[in-house]
Amino acid sequence: MRSDLGQYYTHQNISKLLMSNILMKNPKKILELGIGDGALLREAKLKWRDSKIIGGDIDPKNIKILKKEFPNVDLFLINGLSSRLNHRLKIKLGSIDVGVCNPPYLVVEKSDEIKKILNSSRLGDLSDYRIVTSDLVFLAQNLLLIRENGELGIILPDGLLTSHQFSMFRKRIIENYSIKGIIELPDKIFKKTEAKTHILVLKKCRPKNKTVTIHKANHKGEIEDTINVDIVDLPHRMDYSYHKWRLNDFKKGISLESVKAEIFRGKFSKKELSNGDYKYIHTTDLKKDLKYQVFKPNKRVARRFRCANKGDIIIPRVGKRCLGRVMVIEDGSILISDCLYVIRVPQEYREALVRTLTSEYGQNWIKANSHGVCSRVISKIDLLNLEIQPLTL
Ligand SMILES: C[S@@+](CC[C@H](N)C(=O)[O-])C[C@H]1O[C@@H](n2cnc3c(N)ncnc32)[C@H](O)[C@@H]1O
Repeated sequence: MRSDLGQYYTHQNISKLLMSNILMKNPKKILELGIGDGALLREAKLKWRDSKIIGGDIDPKNIKILKKEFPNVDLFLINGLSSRLNHRLKIKLGSIDVGVCNPPYLVVEKSDEIKKILNSSRLGDLSDYRIVTSDLVFLAQNLLLIRENGELGIILPDGLLTSHQFSMFRKRIIENYSIKGIIELPDKIFKKTEAKTHILVLKKCRPKNKTVTIHKANHKGEIEDTINVDIVDLPHRMDYSYHKWRLNDFKKGISLESVKAEIFRGKFSKKELSNGDYKYIHTTDLKKDLKYQVFKPNKRVARRFRCANKGDIIIPRVGKRCLGRVMVIEDGSILISDCLYVIRVPQEYREALVRTLTSEYGQNWIKANSHGVCSRVISKIDLLNLEIQPLTL
């Protein structure tokens, strides 16, 4: 087995698990890119006896051996990273019913060819990725070759599902495809590598559901636990371990103080700010509906004054009708008036805090905990006691 070609082959239990998650009854054409020693091919053949199977690999040895075992399968010597892949496989783009894949996990040089593959599969642009990996490109190729409403089961490395540098990838997947399930695989399922992996099952159609089921599998390929995760929480991470931890951690609610939230107000009044030269936000910029706002950062201002930054949650500190409104800084930074609070919490609590503040519970909490006769104020000490509410299963 050649590690330079990412030749780590799938265990039979895991191959079976992957196949069992493809729901299409009688696919006509099945594709496998990177067939290796035939671990997935063998299971696909057992599940869909009458389907036409097309496979390819860059290693001629693999093709030669598998041609003997599967004389009826169309096997090709291919480069899965080529933008002319469909010509080599003698198929049209968008003509495959089901794709199954355990791609190689290798770093790939950025090129115009890779850019074209990523763009046309709606997985974004080269600039969205600090590094490009062969698993990402194989996924993109599958998405191009599969027809509308076709299905794909692919084994992906942990990084694509969990690393910050691939958050744009996760965003693109969520926006453009329907995730049918994610299965976290146990450690040490491949010989000679400890790679942590997950099965991602996709349908090539617009996303429909607001939640996604995420499972944990054991070495026998059995599902041990399943959770439902809101789709808005998936760009951050897509793995079972993280979301399970998050659900457990929030079972009882957790105060802003105990998550070590930083809370501060703006230094200047609206009047002072409006006489100055810098852009700022005030209570009037917070609208009734939750807003994710992007600001152009101003380095000079950020050096001199404490600003609200990317990821910060802004609420009014004082006001009447504006209390209860929420803004999230999606990107950039901005000066705030002294009528606003910035709440800065560790990333894993952000979404839950936003949901808490905008929920009935949060709105009632603000009504109950603000004080003052005409204009009402929320004190920082009270705010530190606000409990971030559990995310429900
Ligand atoms: C992780 S192995 C998986 C093999 C098999 N699908 C399995 O599940 O056991 C990846 C396979 O992709 C093949 N491969 C690596 N680079 C490739 C490329 N650029 N084009 C096509 N196949 C490639 C390797 O030879 C290897 O067989």
